[in-house]
Amino acid sequence: MLIKVRKGWELPERDATPESTYLNRRQILKAAGMLTTGSLLAAPADPKSLYPAKRNPEFTLDRPVTEDWAATGYNNFYEFDPNDKQAVKDLVGKFQTSPWQIEVTGMVNKPKTFDVDEITRTYPLEERLYRFRCVEAWSMAVPWTGFPLSHLIKAVEPKSTAKYIRFVTASKPKEMPGMVRTPWYPWPYHEGLRMDEAMHDLTLVATGLYGKPMPKQNGAPIRLVVPWKYGYKSIKSIVKMEFTDKEPPTFWNKLQSSEYGFYSNVIPTKAHPRWSQATEKVIPTMERRPTLMYNGYEKYVAGLYNGKEF
Ligand code: MTE
Repeated sequence: MLIKVRKGWELPERDATPESTYLNRRQILKAAGMLTTGSLLAAPADPKSLYPAKRNPEFTLDRPVTEDWAATGYNNFYEFDPNDKQAVKDLVGKFQTSPWQIEVTGMVNKPKTFDVDEITRTYPLEERLYRFRCVEAWSMAVPWTGFPLSHLIKAVEPKSTAKYIRFVTASKPKEMPGMVRTPWYPWPYHEGLRMDEAMHDLTLVATGLYGKPMPKQNGAPIRLVVPWKYGYKSIKSIVKMEFTDKEPPTFWNKLQSSEYGFYSNVIPTKAHPRWSQATEKVIPTMERRPTLMYNGYEKYVAGLYNGKEF
């Protein structure tokens, strides 16, 4: 008999949605006259009723949670503003994030275009407190809501020849003013992970932040969070995932390959040409503290690497 041994951080599925949320959803459906026999699965859930999701207790922090206003008001999202992190939140107004679809394609047996609402209904959401470290040396610690990317990967059945996944952000210049101002960038934003990194339980598909749906400036409606890598690997507003047998080119690596490698793991002893990585500045106070190996996730991910993958 095959018994699945749950890893420490995996939430039993029945724990993922708090009872109050479930009851709330039933009330909404009942009020809408949708709660007849057999209709529950087909009925669309109000996305807001999925939040807040139950927190996964495996992930604790060694620092206070960054205040909501700071993490949602200081953003790198070059499609909106390539220079001013505090301006991004004021430039996302025209950005349409619903409805939203993600095409999952390439070397898989079951390619599929998912609707984001379908995704959030299908995979139980949980909350995780993660440290988040930008290569520019600022850091924060926030509660993401999401689910492990591995769930989505398993659903499309990758072929054994698939070795990497390429991720692509939406390209909507009419809604993203930064794209128009910087035509020399290799838009759309794109990133990549090796298959074992993508399958790792720490790698999260995030649809929410601070117990609410993802703010536009943080990558609505769906983004990646890879907490042991520099923040630019955590691609926002994803529209495409492509399984491939070749290491995918990445946005920042194309622009400056000597500064941004494919792996981009947080390694405090490996200085970036422009920023020492030994310490980090905690937003919003910008006080310095030592950077942790793999951003503090060494016990989970060191085994993926042989020490050469920076
Ligand atoms: N994704 C897209 N599409 N465009 C971007 O400019 N910036 C990256 C990453 N994902 C970026 C992106 C960088 S450099 C960082 S540090 C994080 O998003 C910032 O995420 P945050 O704004 O939620 O803190």
